[in-house]
Amino acid sequence: MKRDYLSVDDLTQDELIALLDLAAKVKAEPEGYAGRLHGRAVAMVFEKPSTRTRVSFEVAAASAGAHPVALSSAELQLGRGETIEDTGRVLSRYVDVVVLRTFEQERLELLAAASSVPVVNALSDFEHPCQCLADLLTVREIKGDLKSRTLAYLGDGNNVTHSLLLGCAKVGMRIRVATPPGFEPIPQVVHRAREIATQTGGAVELLNDPAEACSGADVLYTDVWASMGQEGEADERALVFLAYQLNERMVELAAPDVTVLHCLPAHRGQEITDEVIDGPHSAVWDQAENRMHTQKALLLFLLGVA
Ligand code: CP
Ligand code: NVA
Repeated sequence: MKRDYLSVDDLTQDELIALLDLAAKVKAEPEGYAGRLHGRAVAMVFEKPSTRTRVSFEVAAASAGAHPVALSSAELQLGRGETIEDTGRVLSRYVDVVVLRTFEQERLELLAAASSVPVVNALSDFEHPCQCLADLLTVREIKGDLKSRTLAYLGDGNNVTHSLLLGCAKVGMRIRVATPPGFEPIPQVVHRAREIATQTGGAVELLNDPAEACSGADVLYTDVWASMGQEGEADERALVFLAYQLNERMVELAAPDVTVLHCLPAHRGQEITDEVIDGPHSAVWDQAENRMHTQKALLLFLLGVA
């Protein structure tokens, strides 16, 4: 049966760890995987802008020997009203994996149900599961292990937060999410992350106090205050989120060897200061690079050629 990757929760704990192991191998010896996807094709459909996801997926596919086809929805008949299901039915006849960046998670579910090939969530309003793979690999590379490490996330309880909640819980990490009241991650994701954490020895804490969240943390993470599709709320959000900025004060509260992550793109001076993103604790460029290695591993895993 084909496998989709629409949520971090589509992977078992063992699969997630095996995928990180494979990504580390792919990164260490890319030549060993050069022709592994020869003769395969990967279609990527973007209904929102992208720099990292698009380029890293294209390069990951090509460097493993697959043919990538990246398209914006405006270039497709999708932009003129063809349904996502019909698009999936047709793309399944040409390619081996379909990657979609979109708004509602439901569109990914409809696409996956209609497609005979694996479907990958390249970001929806609900989750960003590909980002989470790179985040976990980056933490593991720096800290050596993941279990019982504490990650503090500051800002909006959004798609990136949801994937981090599930991913951290799955690998036995402790995650603290500090948001302004009213911007918490959605309760069903928090509930599911807590359920997973009880099995793995992880922990999930929701807070409104950013300083409390950062205290002693091994990893500090933030994301934009207004996600794609929320541009109209940006000014209002900038005021609400001011106290959640990842700045030097937050870094000082964390562990002395804290690692700073951001999925990027960053709005410097808003959710993160120049000093912190360009500072000695920042691993954001390695994190961005790891999108490519983890997505190559994901393609190998979904196509059963790992
Ligand atoms: N982090 C991330 O997904 O970046 P892009 O929006 O540039 O793909
Ligand atoms: N939360 C952000 C992530 C961008 C990679 C957004 O959805 O715009």
